[in-house]
Amino acid sequence: MENKSYFIDTYGCQMNLADSELVKTLLMDAGYQPASKLESADAIFVNTCAIRDHAEQKVHSQLGRYSKIKESRRNIIIGVLGCMAQSLKHDLLEKKPYVDIVLGPDSYRKLPDLLNRVHIDQSSVVDTTLSRYEVYDNLYPSRQEGINAWISIMRGCDKFCTFCVVPFTRGRERSRNSESIIKEAKKAVIDGFVEVTLLGQNVNSYEYNGYKFHQLLEKVAQVPSLKRIRYTSPHPKDITNDLLDVMASNDNICKNIHLPLQAGNDKILNRMNRTYTRKYFLNLVDNIRQTIPGVGISTDIIVGFPGETDIEFQDTIRVMENVKFDSAFMFKYSSRRGTKASEYEDHINDTEKQERLEKVIELQKMHSLERNNALIGKHEIVLVEKNSKKSTNKWAGRTDTNKWVIFDKEDAQIKDMVKVEITDSTGVSLRGALVKE
Ligand code: SAH
Ligand code: SF4
Ligand code: F3S
Repeated sequence: MENKSYFIDTYGCQMNLADSELVKTLLMDAGYQPASKLESADAIFVNTCAIRDHAEQKVHSQLGRYSKIKESRRNIIIGVLGCMAQSLKHDLLEKKPYVDIVLGPDSYRKLPDLLNRVHIDQSSVVDTTLSRYEVYDNLYPSRQEGINAWISIMRGCDKFCTFCVVPFTRGRERSRNSESIIKEAKKAVIDGFVEVTLLGQNVNSYEYNGYKFHQLLEKVAQVPSLKRIRYTSPHPKDITNDLLDVMASNDNICKNIHLPLQAGNDKILNRMNRTYTRKYFLNLVDNIRQTIPGVGISTDIIVGFPGETDIEFQDTIRVMENVKFDSAFMFKYSSRRGTKASEYEDHINDTEKQERLEKVIELQKMHSLERNNALIGKHEIVLVEKNSKKSTNKWAGRTDTNKWVIFDKEDAQIKDMVKVEITDSTGVSLRGALVKE
């Protein structure tokens, strides 16, 4: 077979990063090698995200770039993968005739066959069948060397939050065989990774033959030489005491929980179908902090959900003030086709949403700074991950509560776990100095 090359751009969440690593394995099996740059590839793929309008716009402009490349090199194949492929399907081909392949997240195994078909008869193909079973077991991802290996343990989401497109783009929840997850974690260690992050849209609703998430997490923590285990994203409703106990009693499970709040008002939470109340969330935070002292808690917040009044928005502010999250991702509500909330009649105008967004961002900045300042003078265990962006004499690494620390390299090496005294902080990161023992 002649040597062909591919290039893949990835947008969206960590699940998409992990999926692109699976796609790379499939492409290499089909005889494709990685291209050194986009312009020289024989096949160009974009793995897409549909979570907010902004995410889709980025993909549209990237596709515009691809179409220009195709004008000068007519034989290249252009493929759209992932969540936008799933939600737009044939519309994509109609509006963008230069696209050859449209593949949803459960159809990647068909890629080698489809590439052949496009080569032979030059026609376009769409496959967006969602599966109840596909978990890409026995397909080992092509990871770039590094610190952290993403391991996808479940796919899909059955929660149907009314704002969210994921249940439509990713389909029903299904979990992977636990044995094969453990095997993959062991292989990642042999391949030189020192950290794994278990992934799922609803990672803590993992269940395989009665085997639950906390049981799996404990098993992964026992994999020899694995320095750190993280997981994302959990749903607050599925956080159990068993899970908190497993986190508290295993040193290599990072003391960090991403706990998406979304909103702090019960009426809005109910209209979002989040299935918890403000009080449940606050009790959960107390419980987490009592069981895992020093834990880092981050969150996601949506402002301007349809019907959210200013008074209801204030409840989000109040929950933020009460919890003081370590960090937060904050978004303006973005209407998604096919979702229940898109049909609500009381959408908020963009100016209002923008004002609310700026308020939560300002508030969060103060909280992050306050949480980071509280660490000054403390000793933290940091995993050395990479060169600091600003100086080649400094390392950047994370605490197990997921905060970046910048410090002089001295004799520390990449992948070492080192003790660092925190000396200074900003809202985004910490500065420190190695502690000599
Ligand atoms: N499964 C994850 C969320 C994945 S999406 C979870 O439940 O935690 C990541 C975040 O994007 C969500 O937590 C939410 O805050 C935000 N988001 C999802 N849909 C959105 C929409 N339509 N508009 C604005 N933000 C949205
Ligand atoms: Fe979307 Fe809700 Fe599922 Fe998260 S839990 S992916 S926000 S539907
Ligand atoms: Fe985006 Fe799909 Fe992830 S919509 S956030 S890439 S699951």
